[in-house]
Amino acid sequence: MNPKALLWILANLYALIDGCQAQSKTERPHIIFIIADDLGWNDVGFHGSNQIPTPNIDALSYRGVILNNYYVAPLCTPSRSALMTGKYPIHTGMQHYVLLNWEARGLPLSERILPEYLKDLGYATHAVGKWHLGFYKKEYTPEYRGFDSHVGHWTGQQDYYDHTATEEHFWGLDMHRGLDPARDIHGIYSTEFYTNEAVKVINSHGDLLNNSEEKQKKPLFLYLAHTAVHSGNYYNPLPAPDETVEQFSGIKDYKRRRYAAIVHWLDESVGRVVEALGENGMLDESIIIFTTDNGGAAAGFDSNFASNWPLKGGKYSLWEGGTRGAASIWSPLLKKTGRVSEQLMHISDWLPTLMSAVNSSTEGLSRIDGFDSWKALSHDIPTARKEALLNIDSINDDAAIRRGDWKVVVGSALNGSWNDWYGPSGREEEYNVDLVLNSKVSKSMDSYGFFLSADQIAHLRNSATVKCDTDAELIKDAGDMKGDMIGPPIPCYELIKPCLFNIKYDPCERRNLAELYPEKLEELLSVLTKYNSTAIPPNNMPMDPYSDPSFWDYTWTNFGDKISNSKINEESCSVV
Ligand SMILES: *[C@@H]1O[C@H](CO)[C@@H](O)[C@H](O)[C@H]1NC(C)=O
Ligand SMILES: *[C@@H]1O[C@H](CO)[C@@H](O)[C@H](O)[C@H]1NC(C)=O
Ligand SMILES: *[C@@H]1O[C@H](CO)[C@@H](O)[C@H](O)[C@H]1NC(C)=O
Ligand SMILES: *[C@@H]1O[C@H](CO)[C@@H](O)[C@H](O)[C@H]1NC(C)=O
Repeated sequence: MNPKALLWILANLYALIDGCQAQSKTERPHIIFIIADDLGWNDVGFHGSNQIPTPNIDALSYRGVILNNYYVAPLCTPSRSALMTGKYPIHTGMQHYVLLNWEARGLPLSERILPEYLKDLGYATHAVGKWHLGFYKKEYTPEYRGFDSHVGHWTGQQDYYDHTATEEHFWGLDMHRGLDPARDIHGIYSTEFYTNEAVKVINSHGDLLNNSEEKQKKPLFLYLAHTAVHSGNYYNPLPAPDETVEQFSGIKDYKRRRYAAIVHWLDESVGRVVEALGENGMLDESIIIFTTDNGGAAAGFDSNFASNWPLKGGKYSLWEGGTRGAASIWSPLLKKTGRVSEQLMHISDWLPTLMSAVNSSTEGLSRIDGFDSWKALSHDIPTARKEALLNIDSINDDAAIRRGDWKVVVGSALNGSWNDWYGPSGREEEYNVDLVLNSKVSKSMDSYGFFLSADQIAHLRNSATVKCDTDAELIKDAGDMKGDMIGPPIPCYELIKPCLFNIKYDPCERRNLAELYPEKLEELLSVLTKYNSTAIPPNNMPMDPYSDPSFWDYTWTNFGDKISNSKINEESCSVV
């Protein structure tokens, strides 16, 4: 036998033995990032509501770390831009409103984003679902920004069955595979379709791991961005299977009942994703994040019926209901799990936090606003983050910042409306612990030895539930401030004067302390001014008539590429 052949046999033998010892071990953990759209604070069971069971989301969250002091931007596009770039929206021009379908803009191409960083580290990167960060030219779409594949919608909302998106009189299909319109899934419920696609990604990645040699085993980054629980188009604002709606007949309000059915399928999706990770032997080497993009649209706002109770306001507002997000993280890599984190976090922290979690240097990341919270989350130690800018919008003239326990709110994007407390509280019924313990997530996790008990659930749920209205327990260590925390609410007129709240003792923003703590107010306002001086102008654009899907076979498309091509054609025609 020639020496080369012997070497070849030895090498393959080694790979075989090695492969048997650690079948699917990758050098870095898989990252499964699940983002819900417009999910309310009070629409997950772990925050205390009994109305809409979310057993899978709960089972995942209780086993990991519930992020109870976690802030997001008040709207989809700004929030997703912060997640992807690690920067506050004021630093990318994405701070005002959302990206409208007809705008010729997107998240600036000068920004390097999360999937690009992970791809460079050897990750297989797949996106399923909503994008909402630009599509007018192909360079703005997911497959040109670090994702190996994307199937989903580019715009802010869609019908869950026909997958069209509307904007005033513009109407067209918005379901894409890469750049191509996907016309073959008409009638398939978005949440189910996206879940199927996510499971497909996991299954084929599992195959890939089992069939590749040790040093070629790639970790997976799966970004699953549901359209749920955003409202659909005006002709069917709360799309859900009627038989699921029927199951919630105990909910009197018809629209809330439909909303419950939408939430139900979101929860089921989390169950199926975790189950697929389990079946593919990937669960014990994964990091799973579940988060909303912004607060819930409550009481008919945006035609939707979320609940942020007992927090104030909702989507688009800078109150806690718009900016404090329901979220959790689970991973066997976290050292202290099964806890509720009061550590301050912002959605821009995910980029550096995940880079750190996968053992990548966070050095080149110095020009971002996010903080690496990995060690702090893992070991339950203080985070480097001391404040979180919730937004500054110089067009709406509203701004808010959380600094330590304090928060200042200036102005309103909603002309001083939508500043109430919207239910339902969902506290009337009973919480079904068995549903959590028998959920898909629990079954998969149990089989890997990640157990959860009814006692743990009771304890965690109690500490994750926000209590308001001078709750004695809440203010027991308020010291000198105790007196300010009792008695009737102190009103806030945010259009007239900045309002100041102590979120630790008054998470429901019922007591405007601006006049009682003028120095604190000044301090927070001056920090806001400092941030404001670093803001770049919002990059919103007017309606571009070429975006109209009726020009493009009734699909939302990368019209910016197509009109420049047709202009070139026109020019060459005139030359000829
Ligand atoms: C791949 O390997 C894992 C664990 O090693 C196993 O659980 C899974 O079933 C395998 N998948 C396939 C498709 O063979
Ligand atoms: C990261 O590195 C540390 C220290 O070398 C090691 O203990 C840990 O397992 C590594 N984590 C991952 C996800 O590779
Ligand atoms: C803003 O609210 C005030 C007071 O409720 C109302 O008089 C005014 O018309 C509103 N402005 C707009 C633009 O809606
Ligand atoms: C930020 O600056 C802009 C002008 O540069 C101003 O209109 C706006 O009121 C400022 N906002 C805050 C919160 O300071």
